[in-house]
Amino acid sequence: MADTVVTDTHASGDDPNRRDFIHIAAGAAAAGAVVGLAWPFIDQMNPAGDTLALASVEFDLTKVAAGQQVVVKWRGKPLFVRNRTPAEIAQAIKDDNASLRDPQRDEERHKPGKPEWLVLIGTCTHLGCVPTFGGGDYGGWFCPCHGSHYDTSGRIRKGPAPRNLEVPDWDFVSDTKVKIG
Ligand code: FES
Repeated sequence: MADTVVTDTHASGDDPNRRDFIHIAAGAAAAGAVVGLAWPFIDQMNPAGDTLALASVEFDLTKVAAGQQVVVKWRGKPLFVRNRTPAEIAQAIKDDNASLRDPQRDEERHKPGKPEWLVLIGTCTHLGCVPTFGGGDYGGWFCPCHGSHYDTSGRIRKGPAPRNLEVPDWDFVSDTKVKIG
């Protein structure tokens, strides 16, 4: 199994200058392999490209507390697994009525009855930098490369990015575990 891993969490509502980092290593994680600047993560073994293209990962949601996010490496990309707070969810629903560049309702971006869980591909839709949570003007993610602002649903709200943060194929395999890809 393309076991996952990683990460970096950031609790919403925290002092934006403060970040809590946790490190989760599962399966065949290569200890100590740190990739990326804004979002350090522990790499897994490096499978061949064709394996990567097919790989799916399972992830244990109990590792992500409310208001935190874990970054999981998947197919060579960072994935954000975020456990949203009630305030983040409320803001996302409220923003359904905003003028959106890439219109999508919040409920289209999470599984039915599970609004707290967002799974997003963590690359900016402008030129692929990795946005950070807790910055920007909309309470969600901010891409520091050229200043794209995403809201608490991962929708683009301001800056050069053309589209929302992408939602990959994923689903629950149990109440506490998801499969991505
Ligand atoms: Fe994110 Fe340009 S890559 S704003």
